[in-house]
Amino acid sequence: MRYIIGCDIGTSGTKTVLYNENLEPLFQALGEYTLHQPQNGWAEQNPKDWYDAVISTVKKVVEEAKVDSSDIKAIGLSGQMHGLVMLDENNNVLRPAIIWCDQRTGKECVEITQKIGASRLVEITANPALTGFTASKIMWVKNNEPHIYRKCKHILLPKDYIRFMLTGEYATDVSDASGMQLLDVPKRCWSKEVLNKLDIDESLLGSVYESCEITGYITEKTASLTGLSTNTAVVGGAGDNAAAAIGTGIVKEGRAFTTIGTSGVVYAHTDKPVIDPKGRVHTFCCGVKGKWHVMGVTQAAGSSLKWFKNTFGDTDYSLINHMVKNSPIGADRLIYLPYLMGERTPHLDEDCRGVLFGLSASHSRGNIYRSVMEGVAFSLTDCKDILEEMAIEAKDMTACGGGSESDIWMQILADCYNCDIKRLSSAQGPALGVAILAGVGVGIFPDVVSACDKFIKPASITKSQKENAEKYKKIHNLYKKLYLDLKEDFKLLGSSKKCY
Ligand code: XUL
Repeated sequence: MRYIIGCDIGTSGTKTVLYNENLEPLFQALGEYTLHQPQNGWAEQNPKDWYDAVISTVKKVVEEAKVDSSDIKAIGLSGQMHGLVMLDENNNVLRPAIIWCDQRTGKECVEITQKIGASRLVEITANPALTGFTASKIMWVKNNEPHIYRKCKHILLPKDYIRFMLTGEYATDVSDASGMQLLDVPKRCWSKEVLNKLDIDESLLGSVYESCEITGYITEKTASLTGLSTNTAVVGGAGDNAAAAIGTGIVKEGRAFTTIGTSGVVYAHTDKPVIDPKGRVHTFCCGVKGKWHVMGVTQAAGSSLKWFKNTFGDTDYSLINHMVKNSPIGADRLIYLPYLMGERTPHLDEDCRGVLFGLSASHSRGNIYRSVMEGVAFSLTDCKDILEEMAIEAKDMTACGGGSESDIWMQILADCYNCDIKRLSSAQGPALGVAILAGVGVGIFPDVVSACDKFIKPASITKSQKENAEKYKKIHNLYKKLYLDLKEDFKLLGSSKKCY
């Protein structure tokens, strides 16, 4: 029997799963770490925390599996997208990684748009300049920490830093590279034009591979730390959303998924690079060779619920689900805007912040939790509506991520979407997705699409309830109006350092 490892370097932790060649998950391990927020709107992590979590979780599954290490044929890496890791000439990490949900780079986005031109930028990178993306983070370091930028010799994304530590190779894959805003997304290679105009040296970047290609092999050092063999291949892998797409079988046009992890995503596969002229959703290369995807992003999805849970001192998600179930639709006239970390889709606004609208002395914790789940579902519905506006079919919907384990959250989502939602027997989307890519890379599976068709089957369906869908449509309209009413006030609040 041959084995494959899928490793997902997420924002709250790293999940590593060892599969056999029938893609049965045999052992899994989780290593958690913290997110640092040195200022309102900033978000950083320590790359060493990711590395420690990867080494310890890989070691654990390899030990538990008790198989001949030479039978573990490949590892696939998935990870939080967009994060900036900078290394010096001796490969030391130069500063904490500035990660995807950091919002400090508004000025740099204006600078990027001016240097490249708004329409040319969208033509090449398929997206407008965004605070979440890596290019603006690089420009921020250039502008604010020039002494660090001068020492920088390598720029890597989170999972690609791990690849470097495991294999010694500086490399990335097309899906994750798309989120750097330095890639020519239609042509699937670094854009010399963007790099020249931003004055970023191409030698700082790794080589770009398709997601199922082998990028290197485990070093002696990694082998001794984890128990793996130096014959284990490390395959390109994918950004967490492109990886989750493969893990949920979203590899053909007409299929879409929603993930509720730290962030929330509504993702649809496309055979061509379809671009939203207003830039409200992202167009990236996907993990299927030569194909693309379009996705909308809710910055704070699972992290909204987690923030309330931690703030209220609750410890148990099953108790929260129970309280939400006992709260009525609309949470007794309470509406939550999930903008804890600004928002991408549909607003592209780094200044907006979370709102609990309509709070009354009669509200319970259950009402508040329900409004949080509903607010996240409204934001995801905004993403789905834009995909439909672009004529991208998103009715064949699968859910994944931690939030998909909540029956009540899935019911709320199915009612807001007004469509049924499938769930799979495994919620390991990204880890399973990169295990499939790794298996394709070393020849265990012939290609991604046939492996998905063979192994990925829905386990249950949450049916949308017509009556609930009608109620949610009305509440969603008020939810949308609230942002428009508050838009300018968010800007005032954002500049309040100057006002008070
Ligand atoms: C996607 C994005 C998030 C992160 C978080 O553009 O920023 O989904 O990948 O995991």
